[in-house]
Amino acid sequence: MENRIITAKIEVYQYSELLETDKILVERAKSATKTSYSPYSKFQVGAALLLDNGEIVAGSNQENVAYPSGLCAERTVIFYASATYPGVKFKKLAIAAYTDGDFVEEPVSPCGACRQSILEYEKLAGEPIEIILVGREKVYKISGIRTLLPLSFEEF
Ligand code: THU
Repeated sequence: MENRIITAKIEVYQYSELLETDKILVERAKSATKTSYSPYSKFQVGAALLLDNGEIVAGSNQENVAYPSGLCAERTVIFYASATYPGVKFKKLAIAAYTDGDFVEEPVSPCGACRQSILEYEKLAGEPIEIILVGREKVYKISGIRTLLPLSFEEF
């Protein structure tokens, strides 16, 4: 028997330390929370995606009375981006969440299904998609989705 230890590196920044381009993406994710349709959870998630052509697209979670029919902000934005700009690489994805009258203290991290979807586009791009998780004061930067999805399913 051998042990294999998987580690995850997360860079923790104060908002003021971010690059200007990252600040813009963070602001777009925060403002996208306002477009959330979340009458059931009242948890408003916004996501902003920077594309290789310089465009930023933003989206939010969209819920449904039949709960599983709703969609997270991350998949809303990446599917929209791929459908609007097919073949254009994704560079960076910022995610913010607002509930109970404020942005969340601890950044929200994408669910398993979103991680799997992000991985698909990371593989297509052939380079890591940086993930930026936005908290009220701190911002986490993760250098690619594989950090959040170790031992992922690969094509056979
Ligand atoms: N949600 C997202 O949009 N992204 C996440 O990363 C976590 C969860 C949504 C799904 C649902 O509409 C609400 O947040 C509560 O789970």
